[in-house]
Amino acid sequence: MTILADDSNEHRKRLDTLISKIDGFELKEKRENKLDFKEDLDDKAILNLILENDHSALYNYSILKIKVDKEFLSKIMDEEDIPDYYETLDIIIEDELKHIKMLRTALE
Ligand SMILES: [Fe+2]
Repeated sequence: MTILADDSNEHRKRLDTLISKIDGFELKEKRENKLDFKEDLDDKAILNLILENDHSALYNYSILKIKVDKEFLSKIMDEEDIPDYYETLDIIIEDELKHIKMLRTALE
C-alpha cells in the first residue's frame, strides 16, 4: 500500500509539472482526493476500489498517449516539452500496470 501511495504522489507531481507546461492551464491549489473510502468497507472492497481506480487511470493515460499527437501538442506547449509529455505518460502507464498486478496478487 505504501508503494501505491508513494507512486500516486509521484504521479501527481509529474502531472502537475506537465500541466504547468500547457499554455493557458492553471493548477488549482487544492484538489480533493478522488477515492472515497466508506467506513464500512472491508480490506477486499478497498483493494477492489483501488484496482478499479487504477484500471480507469491506465485506460485514460493510455488514451492520452495514443490519441494526442505531436501536432496538437505543439499547439498547446513548447516543442521542447513534448518529449516530457510522452515520458510522463509512459512512466505512469508502467506504474499503473505494476499496481494492477500487485492488487490482483493481493486479491487472490
Ligand atoms: Fe495506481
